[in-house]
Amino acid sequence: MGLQHLSDLSAIIDDLDAMGRLARVRSEVDLNHDLAGIAAELEGGPRAVLFENVKGYEHPVFVGLYWSRELLGDLMRTPEGDLPGLVSQHIKKWQVDPVAPVVIENGPVREITEPDVDLSKLPIPVHAMKDGGSYFSAAVVVTRDPDSGVRNASIQRFQVIDKDTLAVNIDSGRHLEIYLAKAAKRGKNLSFTLNVGVGPGLHFAASAPAEAAPIDKDELGIASEFHGAPLELVRSDLSDVEMIAHAQWALECELIHDEGHLEGPFAEVTGCYAGIAPRGKVKVKRIHRRKNPVFQTILSGKEVFNSVGLLGEANVLNLLQVQVPGVKDVYFTHGGCGFYGAVVQIAQTRAGWARQAILATFAAFPPLKTVTVVDDDVDIYDPSDVEWAMSTRLDARNGVIVLNDIFGHGLNPSFPDYLGSKIGFDATQPFPHQPQFERVTIKKMNLEGIDIVTRDIAPPPRPAGAGQTLVEYILEKTGAAPKPAPAAKPGGGSLVDYILEKTGAAGKPEQAAAKPGGTLVDYILEKTGAGASKPAPAATPPNSNGAAKGPSLVDYILEKTSGKKAKPNGAAPGEGMNGSSALNGAPPPGGTLKDWILNQTKGSPRI
Ligand SMILES: Cc1cc2nc3c(=O)[nH]c(=O)nc-3n(C[C@H](O)[C@H](O)[C@H](O)COP(=O)(O)O)c2cc1C
Repeated sequence: MGLQHLSDLSAIIDDLDAMGRLARVRSEVDLNHDLAGIAAELEGGPRAVLFENVKGYEHPVFVGLYWSRELLGDLMRTPEGDLPGLVSQHIKKWQVDPVAPVVIENGPVREITEPDVDLSKLPIPVHAMKDGGSYFSAAVVVTRDPDSGVRNASIQRFQVIDKDTLAVNIDSGRHLEIYLAKAAKRGKNLSFTLNVGVGPGLHFAASAPAEAAPIDKDELGIASEFHGAPLELVRSDLSDVEMIAHAQWALECELIHDEGHLEGPFAEVTGCYAGIAPRGKVKVKRIHRRKNPVFQTILSGKEVFNSVGLLGEANVLNLLQVQVPGVKDVYFTHGGCGFYGAVVQIAQTRAGWARQAILATFAAFPPLKTVTVVDDDVDIYDPSDVEWAMSTRLDARNGVIVLNDIFGHGLNPSFPDYLGSKIGFDATQPFPHQPQFERVTIKKMNLEGIDIVTRDIAPPPRPAGAGQTLVEYILEKTGAAPKPAPAAKPGGGSLVDYILEKTGAAGKPEQAAAKPGGTLVDYILEKTGAGASKPAPAATPPNSNGAAKGPSLVDYILEKTSGKKAKPNGAAPGEGMNGSSALNGAPPPGGTLKDWILNQTKGSPRI
């Protein structure tokens, strides 16, 4: 199926938007840390993000194309679970019958050629707090083998040094490193183009590992498979290396063969910083772009786990299925940074193949550090299920393979100078299978036709009086607020302030209390609009003049402020629910009514 929209990031953004899978950030956002900070909050969510208003820049920044496999599945019109299979199928097809890219006369990336090279005009973000500067993290390098002329694509991180200088990190063994060495032998710099803003077809072509795309093959053809049509290129001005016709920006560059530049630190896919060190030095010679380009960036994390993971999984699956009978699926876990941890699912056909699968998986993808092999009744995408297999089926004495002093990924801090140890776990059940390892199964039921009645979940009923203060009770009864938020007045204001505020009568009872002849209760009643400036004698509220008889203070206030009498047992819960006795006590001799209330409501005098 042709998916031509995948060849153009602008079309991809429109497609995501139409599916509700694009978040547009309209607020002005600073490129330094803030943009990445917002992206990190949205990372892994159902939408990619377009920052439309980048402080000091004309052009927007896009992030998140790969951080959700569900989103990627929608974009590629493929169920999420089928993505590794799809990627693997495209790579296999390219390996046997490649569709070469075509060079076209003109393309959107050539709409504008900048009159001079000034990288500070591009909205290139600084991601993590200790990053050494602005980075291109998603741009695709296209170059040619100086000897054979075969094209190669890859993704490398590039740090901006000044307006026309970059520093690049090239891991050991990359084709770019080999090409640079070949150019150096001739005493020449290596020309390449740096293509910013591309779709997943080209991204996957560029990140296809050397095990899938050997050095003598033009791996740009992998993108053609995803698009269902030949990938389109346009010529450069200064070298024979083409640019991606539908990129947003394309920079014509030279990798200097005899000079380096300090690069780093950079927040890497490992979740650790890649340190500062002398690395490749690049001169930018010319900048082309669209009229309205969108800068694409990738936040190290889920985006890389998924994109590298999908590629790695597809490639390992292809190789394993040739070498190990019964291998059904492979997943590169997020806990393993999409690079370092693989779970392999196998339907065992004879003893020993699970252990063989461990070795074959390490061989198929050298950056891997851990491989866990499980049976085909284990969900490899569910870490708990994999742990279950480890817990119940791994024979820790015989099922663990440790490989020491072996080549790994230099970015991984446990592989200093690309050397470290790897571990494989055979978490499959012994073969032939024995009944004690059989997994329990429960009949799978469809609940659709089953009549099940539920009610909305309500908070548990409060035991009478528990946890409710006098104030809460008064407020609830007067309808002022069902539950006062204690935090509303942290540390400040008296109980009376609080009652007055909640019942909508502002004021300072202290002042009122100072009123000659007026009691606190008078004041509350006046303020809450209950009308009576003097309590009705029938209600007999306790006052500062003597012992109270009959209804409690609460009853009295309730009656006055709500116009109806409280229930017979209407004293505040926990404050004499079964009568008014607890509230009918006289104020202590010499004490004020306020003292009395505070005394009675111990535990909640201040809100
Ligand atoms: C987002 C992203 C960032 C990457 N950054 C680097 C990098 O800085 N240096 C590097 O050598 N490889 C990096 N890689 C991995 C290579 O692009 C990848 O392994 C590619 O297949 C190498 O191409 P090659 O096989 O043609 O050498 C990155 C991959 C992705 C997806």
